[in-house]
Amino acid sequence: MPSWRALPPGGKSLLLQLVAAAFWLVLAAPLLRASDLFLLPWQQALGAGTLAAILGLVWRLPVWWLPINFLFIPGLLMMLALDLASRWYLAAFALLLLVYGGVARSQVPLYLSSRKAWHAVAGLVPARAAVADLGSGLGGMLAFLSRQRPEGRYVGVETAPLPFLLGWLRARVSGGHYAIRWNSLWKLDLRPFDVVYAYLSPVPMAALWLKVRAEMRPGTLFISNTFAVPDVAPSEVVQLDDLHHSRLYLYRL
Ligand SMILES: C[S@@+](CC[C@H](N)C(=O)[O-])C[C@H]1O[C@@H](n2cnc3c(N)ncnc32)[C@H](O)[C@@H]1O
Repeated sequence: MPSWRALPPGGKSLLLQLVAAAFWLVLAAPLLRASDLFLLPWQQALGAGTLAAILGLVWRLPVWWLPINFLFIPGLLMMLALDLASRWYLAAFALLLLVYGGVARSQVPLYLSSRKAWHAVAGLVPARAAVADLGSGLGGMLAFLSRQRPEGRYVGVETAPLPFLLGWLRARVSGGHYAIRWNSLWKLDLRPFDVVYAYLSPVPMAALWLKVRAEMRPGTLFISNTFAVPDVAPSEVVQLDDLHHSRLYLYRL
């Protein structure tokens, strides 16, 4: 099987954007010119965007890639029209790389647990518990838990450089009783923890469950925000009244 079939959606989208742009420049635009059909640049960009969106559908990308693929080339054109100095593009690229650089591989982007999720998790954590946040982002969950339950032990792991740095600095500056490590969740030994919290994406859940089952002790608690473990019935589901109507899936080991 060719390896491009195994590409994550972002990689496939990049590939089909290149195909759409090449097709438009090499075939469609000259054909239109030859038939005396003059299209403005933004019309051409929309044409290429439509083609990219169709290619995404044909490649069965998740539906939310449709607007991204449609708007990518028109977006490029708009940014060019802004005529920004190239250092701004470099700065934006570096920022995105530092926050989202690993997403193509992990398929777990950064988004943050709501305050209501913090409160709900705090209500589930026993006194003096050791708690891990797998992919701790900016460290908000751990900062909150360590304030609410200062007698516990709190550890977060994060691989994205900028979120890690901000979370680590936050712990240092606030004097919070929690540790943020620059490490992969796959390398963290879950044996010492009474509660493990994860807010990731659907992609790693099946493999993560295998790790949880292998390492967490009987009676401990695995909590997944929003993303249930496929084909495993949770012990309990907590419905949150937050912006996204998130659910906490609780798995008692
Ligand atoms: C959806 S965010 C959740 C942030 C935080 N736990 C919260 O609830 O606010 C998921 C985080 O997991 C991180 N991540 C993804 N894969 C990871 C891995 N293999 N090891 C550690 N962190 C990872 C991402 O960089 C991202 O910051």
